Order: sequence, then structure tokens, then C-alpha cells
Amino acid sequence: MISKKIEDAINDQINAELYSAYIYLSMSSWFDSANLKGMSHWMGIQAKEEVEHAMKFAGYVMERGGRVLYKAVEGPETEWTSPLEAFKVAYEHEKYVTRRINDLMDLAVAEKDYASQALLQWFVSEQVEEEANADEIVSKLEMIGEGKHGLLMIDRELGGREDD
Ligand code: FEO
Repeated sequence: MISKKIEDAINDQINAELYSAYIYLSMSSWFDSANLKGMSHWMGIQAKEEVEHAMKFAGYVMERGGRVLYKAVEGPETEWTSPLEAFKVAYEHEKYVTRRINDLMDLAVAEKDYASQALLQWFVSEQVEEEANADEIVSKLEMIGEGKHGLLMIDRELGGREDD
């Protein structure tokens, strides 16, 4: 049985993961409207991953006899000034999610909840990847500056992202 403290904290995290999906869906739509179809595709896959993260947490709560409570998801931003700004926002958001996961781990350790620690360890590793992916794209976009040719090359590259 899961403790109420951990159950509440994971329910909050489920909301945060669904909010992440909302941000990336909004970015996907914005990139599509800017005719950057590859970046739109990349964000669409990212959003799907976030829903999977939410479902992974939800499945765990249910397996441990807890109750998943879905709360209202905040509306995301809808406009960014450039692809670079959008990916910078995505990178900062992933760093925020990492801090949340670390806080959850601290709580699971304090509560001596070993099963939750095992689940959270997966998310700790996943966040390393999530941050690295966004950071790499930010670096590439910074490298090309205002160049349209480089932007289209990166767009084509990101269009090749496959479902994990
Ligand atoms: Fe679910 Fe991108 O962290």
C-alpha cells in the first residue's frame, strides 16, 4: 500500500507530466504553423512520451492500491519568438521536471518507500536523456544563428525522430 503523502505527490507529478505534454503539443502546433514540419513532428513525439510518463506513474499508483486523481491541466503558452526560444523553453522545462523528480526521490527516501525509489530511479535516468536531447538541439540552433539553410537542415533531422 502506498502512503497518502507519496500518492498525493505522484498525483501532482501526473499532472505535471500531462502539462508537459500540453506544452509540447502547443509547440508542435506552432512549429507546424511556421512550416517547420520536422520540429512539429519531434514535439509531437515528445508529447506522446510525456503522456507515457504520466501513465507510468498512474499505473504504479494503481498497482500499489492508491487512487489516481486527474486534475485540471493548465493551458500552455501558444507563441514563441523563434525555434531557438521554443527549444530553450523546452530545455528549461525539462530541468524543472528533473528538480521535481529529485524532490519526489527525496520524499520516497524520507518515507523509506523502496518501491517508489525504484520507480523514480527510472525517471532520474530518463531525465538525463530528456535534458540532453533538448540541450543538444538548443546548441545546434545557437550554432546556425539566423541562417535559414541550417534551420531547414535541423528541421529535416528532427523530422526523422522515431517513436521510442
Ligand atoms: Fe516527463 Fe520530459 O519529462
